[in-house]
Amino acid sequence: MTPFELVRLVHVLCAVLGLGLIAAVGLVARSERSAASPPSELLSLSRWSTAALGVMMGTGMLLNVLSGGTYHHAWWFRLSAISLVATGAVVGFTRRRARRWIAGEVDASAARRYVVSMSWAACGLVAWITALMELRPFQ
Ligand code: HEM
Repeated sequence: MTPFELVRLVHVLCAVLGLGLIAAVGLVARSERSAASPPSELLSLSRWSTAALGVMMGTGMLLNVLSGGTYHHAWWFRLSAISLVATGAVVGFTRRRARRWIAGEVDASAARRYVVSMSWAACGLVAWITALMELRPFQ
């Protein structure tokens, strides 16, 4: 196995195992239990999903380096890096609101709605990046 193949394996593994945590945040936040009281596990799910996004960015950049810089001129690559930064920001805003929800500093039902919709928005961005990775529409 070449270093490139190894890093690509880590990249795809992290996509499969790590990014589902973003959907988990949305699912936990919309559950019946969350309507009664905010679930504290939202914060750790959100922290781990940020770590997974970091690994995706790191391994994506490393793949470019290992290939001798063949990707960074392609727009599918640039757009995925930009979209990943946007996803990180959305996840970060969501975690901040979840923290305030758990601390009882904001209106609970508005915070719950916010966390659910922002998590779906982050999932949409992940779907967009996955399509860029697989279809490579912009060269
Ligand atoms: C939501 C985030 C991401 C997901 C789900 C994702 C998913 C994938 C998948 C499934 C592949 C394998 C494609 C294939 O071989 O058919 C791949 C390859 C790759 N990804 Fe990503 N990726 C993400 C983010 C990124 C980012 C941000 C970058 C760049 C900074 C990047 C750079 C690459 C590169 C260079 C390859 C190798 C392409 C090749 O084998 O020719 N990825 N990605």
